[in-house]
Parts: sequence; structure tokens; C-alpha cells
Amino acid sequence: MPIREILKMGDPRLLRVAEPVPSEMFGGDTLRALVVDLLDTMKAASGAGIAAPQIGVNLRVVIFGGNGKNPRYPDAPEIPFTVLCNPVLEPTGDEKSAGWEGCLSVPGLRGEVPRFERLSYRGYDAEGIPFERRVEGFHARVVQHECDHLDGVLYPRRVEDMTRFGFTDVLFPALQS
Ligand code: NI
Repeated sequence: MPIREILKMGDPRLLRVAEPVPSEMFGGDTLRALVVDLLDTMKAASGAGIAAPQIGVNLRVVIFGGNGKNPRYPDAPEIPFTVLCNPVLEPTGDEKSAGWEGCLSVPGLRGEVPRFERLSYRGYDAEGIPFERRVEGFHARVVQHECDHLDGVLYPRRVEDMTRFGFTDVLFPALQS
């Protein structure tokens, strides 16, 4: 069952704080199968990233990047495919920038969200190998968006100017929602 149903805003399962991946799951078939399902589901929906809670799995796992130029974000720089478990984010400085976001759980809408411009993040891949990256711009934005899902936060809660929130086909007629 590789392509899974994506839960939509209003589903209480999107509001939970997800559980850490237990150490015994790393390198195992269950976690590998979850990553395959997340990847297949993200690709089918042309997502920039997806978090396990979006397919109803209450674990601190997100994946993002790796799909080259994304039709939903055609102007965004490419991000390497990343599996990130039990992430810890540390902003570098206080600078925030506003940028447009969408979400597979909030189909058809876009909103402008302030995010930290630079941060470092660390966590584990599906085999339990720890890694750390310093990133900025769109990469930093995607990580913050996906990791918000692990704390039950959907991006509309981060929109500060509600005049900058609306339907994709109205705001950006050329874009795929
Ligand atoms: Ni999302």
C-alpha cells in the first residue's frame, strides 16, 4: 500500500504531538516501509515534503526534497532527498523572512508565513545514522514547515497577515495547487 491517504486539516490526528522514533525501530523493516510510503505519497502529490502524521502515523519522521524541480514550487531551489527522524532545529540568529507555503493537508490554499531564515538541524536517517546540516532560505523553510507537523501545527496557524492567505488558483493562476 505505497500511496497513502493524506489527512486533511480538521482531522484531529494532525494536531497531535508525535512520538519519537524508538531506537529499536532504526534500520528495521517498519521504519523503511514507512519511508517508502511517505516517498510514494509525496511524489504522487508533487509535495516538497511530507510528515508521518499526515498519513496518520504518529512518529517524528519527515521526508523532503529529492524531486528536482517541483511543479508546486517551480522557483524554489532543489533540496537533496532527506529522511529526518527525531529532528532538533536550532535557528541561527533571529532573522525571519516571509514566504509562501502550501501543504498537502491544506489543499488548494497558500499562505505567507514568517520562518527563520537560517538554522541548523540534526536528527537521524532511517538507519539510525545521525547527521547535522546548516541551511538557509527555502531549505530552512521546508524543514520548519515539516517539523511543525510533528508538533501538531499546520502552517495557517503561522500566517500573521490573513490578507496573505488564499486560494492558489486565485493568488497564483499559473501554479499547480
Ligand atoms: Ni505540510
